[in-house]
Amino acid sequence: MEITKICCIGAGYVGGPTMAVIAQKCPHIQVTVVDLNEQRIKDWNDPDTNNIPIYEPGLSEIVAEARGRNLFFSTEVEKAIDEAQVIFISVNTPTKTYGKGKGMAADLKYIELCARQIAKVAKENKIVVEKSTLPVRTAEAIKSILDNTGNGVQFQILSNPEFLAEGTAVTDLLNPDRILIGGDTTPEGEAAINALVNVYANWVSKDKILTTNVWSSELSKLTANAFLAQRISSINAMSELCEKTGADVNEVAKAIGMDTRIGPKFLKASVGFGGSCFQKDILNLVYIAKSYGLNEVADYWEQVIIMNDHQKRRFSNKIVQTLYNTVADKKITFLGWAFKKDTNDTRESAAIYVADDLINEQAKISVYDPKVSRNKMLADLNYLESRSVEENNNAILAFDNPYDACKGSHAISILTEWDEFVAYDWQKIYDSMHKPAFLFDGRNILNAKEVEAIGFVYKGIGS
Ligand code: UDX
Ligand code: ADP
Repeated sequence: MEITKICCIGAGYVGGPTMAVIAQKCPHIQVTVVDLNEQRIKDWNDPDTNNIPIYEPGLSEIVAEARGRNLFFSTEVEKAIDEAQVIFISVNTPTKTYGKGKGMAADLKYIELCARQIAKVAKENKIVVEKSTLPVRTAEAIKSILDNTGNGVQFQILSNPEFLAEGTAVTDLLNPDRILIGGDTTPEGEAAINALVNVYANWVSKDKILTTNVWSSELSKLTANAFLAQRISSINAMSELCEKTGADVNEVAKAIGMDTRIGPKFLKASVGFGGSCFQKDILNLVYIAKSYGLNEVADYWEQVIIMNDHQKRRFSNKIVQTLYNTVADKKITFLGWAFKKDTNDTRESAAIYVADDLINEQAKISVYDPKVSRNKMLADLNYLESRSVEENNNAILAFDNPYDACKGSHAISILTEWDEFVAYDWQKIYDSMHKPAFLFDGRNILNAKEVEAIGFVYKGIGS
């Protein structure tokens, strides 16, 4: 089957960039991205592509090229489903906040809604592709809903997990390490897999396109994220030991990374990993293991999360302790709120948890982030429900300029590794602060010797 029409449900961090790249690379395929959120679709259709709702380097240019040609953003979900041969499901799957599996299992209500909607609308055979990270065996649930509530048409369910990292989404999509497609081993399943392989083959060489059964594909996604997060928790565990012993974690990371069996990537000690995937996927893995009675497996992976939570708390404790055990009414400046550089996404960002701890100690937080609005910061804090909306409102001040954010503050804390932070006039910042001026570098991006020479009391991670 030759694919000419694709629909993607969910215009978020995964669906938006992925479909933009497919549309750019496959001008012969009509790609329609739909979302229930009208404002989000309106923003994707903003005449100025710099205003699209997701910030990713290189994305606005691709949208400018393909939008209106073969890339469309719409709220007409049913129409798009009806017309497409392939439907990608890219809706969010947050951790459940209620009921069984609360705080661990993925909330599949959005996925189920999509499946029911597809079943209702589809009048011809369709290929349904799971793009969102989903717990293993979700495909089975989707299939059951489609087969039992549909109009008698045939559905093939494929798992095609996304491995893009935010901040580098466009380059990851253009040059993926691999594309993974899982499907049924029946002739119909294989035909569906091939149809999707041919879409990606427009720009990815076939030896990088891996096909597996559905469960292997779903589990590979969780496993990849668990392994990546585990490396960060491992090096973060070492960072605490380094601080006690006089070793330098950056030197340790370099030394072990040169062992080709270990490799240099994902060994940067930090205030802790954030983002929408790592914690959620590991919790999923833990939940699945527990549900099969594999308690040791569950405990093993849960430790990655425990270490990450510890690292965030350790960082805020260090700020309080260093500032003579009190930050009450002190101004603490945060440089960065996003969970990593080059994205406006703040989900699970370490900044939220460090801010929460410091506000509990009655600090006043001033924030500068190049891409995150104050409303988003407040929404993130309010989501924790640690205190009233009004109290959060009083505790957070946002600036659109780093120098104003740092002026008169007692300490600066770097929470995101934005490149621009390194290039600041640190002497000017130092001169405008209370003395002693403390600098807590949660990302180890500054040169300790240089800022100490200016006069800062510098504390990085793991040295
Ligand atoms: C991750 C996976 O990398 C990606 O393949 C998957 O599809 C989704 O989840 P993402 O969450 O977008 O991507 O970003 P990633 O680059 O993995 O960073 C996650 C967090 O780890 C960030 O907070 C980052 O700052 C932190 N990190 C990363 C470190 O603290 N140290 C490192 O060495 C690397
Ligand atoms: P991700 O990082 O997984 O892309 P996002 O939250 O950025 O997550 O995007 C998911 C998008 O899916 C949101 O814009 C949300 O409005 C949309 N969505 C959720 N459920 C549905 C649905 N049933 N139909 C259409 N869009 C949906």
